[in-house]
Amino acid sequence: MSQRSLRTILITGASGSIGSALARAYAAPGVILVLHGRDEEKLNLVAGDCEARGAQVILGIFDITDTPQLQAWVQDIDYSNPIDLLIANQGMNINIGPKGEGEDWVQAERLLEVNLRATMALASAAIKPMRARGHGQIALISSLAGFFGLPLTPAYSASKAGVKAYGEALRGWLAPHGIQVTVVMPGYVESDMCDAMPGPKPFLWTAERAAAVIKRRLALNHARISFPFPLNIGTWFLAVLPPEISIKILGWMGYRA
Ligand SMILES: NC(=O)c1ccc[n+]([C@@H]2O[C@H](COP(=O)([O-])OP(=O)(O)OC[C@H]3O[C@@H](n4cnc5c(N)ncnc54)[C@H](OP(=O)(O)O)[C@@H]3O)[C@@H](O)[C@H]2O)c1
Repeated sequence: MSQRSLRTILITGASGSIGSALARAYAAPGVILVLHGRDEEKLNLVAGDCEARGAQVILGIFDITDTPQLQAWVQDIDYSNPIDLLIANQGMNINIGPKGEGEDWVQAERLLEVNLRATMALASAAIKPMRARGHGQIALISSLAGFFGLPLTPAYSASKAGVKAYGEALRGWLAPHGIQVTVVMPGYVESDMCDAMPGPKPFLWTAERAAAVIKRRLALNHARISFPFPLNIGTWFLAVLPPEISIKILGWMGYRA
């Protein structure tokens, strides 16, 4: 599918850094942007910018962990505006704390709901009508932390590894049905979530730069979009090396409490 045929694009986490940059990157006359988040004020600002670029905007403002509401909403949107591209981008992060005391379990469960469960719920709601139409595109935002678990963020790493595996499986399943699925694995990108994350942040990108790369490579239907070079190669190697060595390397790099 070429970018020209994109008409309706649904982006979650659109009030955040990467999501709002993606919304602005796709905003153009003839495009319907369906933007989801909880922060109404931020979403309205993003919507205003996108409308100024000629896009029509529909907002969805509710907690993404409400699965029945989420799936009914996706169904409703798709009924009136068939979704060409779904970008499941919402996310949150927690960490083990400055002294390595550990993650709070209630927060860890919440994180899994936001990062993994909601991503799967979104995709599963979009797949049915896309299959019936015989086309569609789904991008799932994972992270380079999905290649090898970072000691400072165990639950986050697990959620992003889950998103990666889910997306790869969907791609294999859905390609014969005309649905393109991409797993996006960003490195460090300027955002509130990134600011709050402990540890070194090498090769930090702006959200605008990340959005431009994601948009360009989605148009080429890449199975995986990972950046920046060389952090993507380095984290890929961590997954290939014996884990004892990878854990040592992460420790030397400062990824410890
Ligand atoms: N920034 C990085 O360095 C980095 C690196 C790798 C991967 N990522 C991934 O990129 C994605 C976007 O992150 P970001 O950096 O742009 O972070 P961000 O600016 O903090 O944005 C997070 C977004 O997720 C939404 N969200 C969180 N919990 C939600 C909930 N319960 N219900 C609905 N929406 C919820 C937020 O919406 P509200 O605030 O409106 O609730 C916000 O729009 C995430 O999946 C993140 O894991 C980021």
